[in-house]
Amino acid sequence: MAEALFERAKEIIGKNDLGTYTVPTHGLYPFQWNWDSCLTAIGLAHYDEERAWTEIETLFAHQWDDGMVPHIVFHKEDEGYFPGPDVWATGQPIPTSGITQPPVAGFAVRRLYERARDPARALVRLRALLPKIHAWHEWFYRCRDPQATGLVAVIHPWETGRDNSIDWDEAFDRVPTEGVLPFTRRDTQHANPDHRPTQAQYERYIWLIQLFRSLNWDNSQLHDNSPFRVVDPGFNAILLRSCADLAALAEEVGETEIASAARARIATGIDALETLWSEEFGQYLCLDRVTGDLIESASVAGLLAVFADIPDSRCRAVAGRIAWLKEHAAYLVPSHDPTDPRFDGARYWRGPSWLIVNYMIADGLRQKGLDRTADKIVQDSISLIEQSGFAEYYDPISGAPCGGTSFTWTAAMVIEFLALESR
Ligand code: DGY
Repeated sequence: MAEALFERAKEIIGKNDLGTYTVPTHGLYPFQWNWDSCLTAIGLAHYDEERAWTEIETLFAHQWDDGMVPHIVFHKEDEGYFPGPDVWATGQPIPTSGITQPPVAGFAVRRLYERARDPARALVRLRALLPKIHAWHEWFYRCRDPQATGLVAVIHPWETGRDNSIDWDEAFDRVPTEGVLPFTRRDTQHANPDHRPTQAQYERYIWLIQLFRSLNWDNSQLHDNSPFRVVDPGFNAILLRSCADLAALAEEVGETEIASAARARIATGIDALETLWSEEFGQYLCLDRVTGDLIESASVAGLLAVFADIPDSRCRAVAGRIAWLKEHAAYLVPSHDPTDPRFDGARYWRGPSWLIVNYMIADGLRQKGLDRTADKIVQDSISLIEQSGFAEYYDPISGAPCGGTSFTWTAAMVIEFLALESR
């Protein structure tokens, strides 16, 4: 069974492989996406190390001069996706979007390097990527934390990857829709509209893009001018974990300046994450940086905080929260509390379980010795695949497949889960 799943996963990645980068899935997402690519590289590395490094290198070849790594690289034209390069109009030589995505590259590169079967070759690739990833991390703290709080904000829901999370509902209400140019959505032609964000949400996504475009994508201005500025604990945990992985790699190869800069970010960031802890919810919450209030919404972002080196007591509390979720959902980890009336088990990030998030939460729990909870998450992930195939995401109550099909990063996570299980 495991071998058949592995072969099927390889086949899916192969179909979505365009040579130097993968698309998340044909049709719905026909370009290179930032965190999809980095997490896919982890799966690829199990059978093609060279190709795994190339996946990340291709992404970083499109890093902006200011250090940002964009969330989409539009390598080739494709009319089947909206919003395409003409809407973003970022003026990059090969068109890219103008916002970023969860910075998993530092974490992925450490995985690739430490498992390398060709360490000499891996060292060359690592040395070239290290300063680029570091520049991206520094960009975050410079441009998305201008008040030096230790935590970065996202300025567009797409930056978190959790496009339509319940976390954004109130903050998103402040984003106007006047002046949005008429558009035709393409996503609902490829996937069930009931699994996708609403039209009202799309109008706000586009309004924000139009605002940023009117500011010439100048990252020294975007944060303060955006009506949407949210501090996401999961996003910050990913950044802090990548800083830690980058620091460890930098120490190993003698890049001491990078190592000490990254360590300083971690020290401040881990302390600052505490401000997002809610005793009432028993987990971390998002912070609305515009109002200064914690957002009362128990999403998976608050559990993903375990991906960073947070205090043991917090990790145990998160594990307890996951045990409680298991009483309300057949398949861990729902992206939102199923007992919340706003929960929707099929609609993208308002309930469904995602294998990439499961992977990061399980990894974080294992770092703290919470293997039993991690094992449950991995078992549920494999059950979802066996039952429902390589979907984009899954209904955590029924296990039904949702969103896109033949999904690259889902396949990559399956390969990684199977490899970790067989150790
Ligand atoms: C989409 O188009 O649905 C993406 O999530 C934006 O990155």
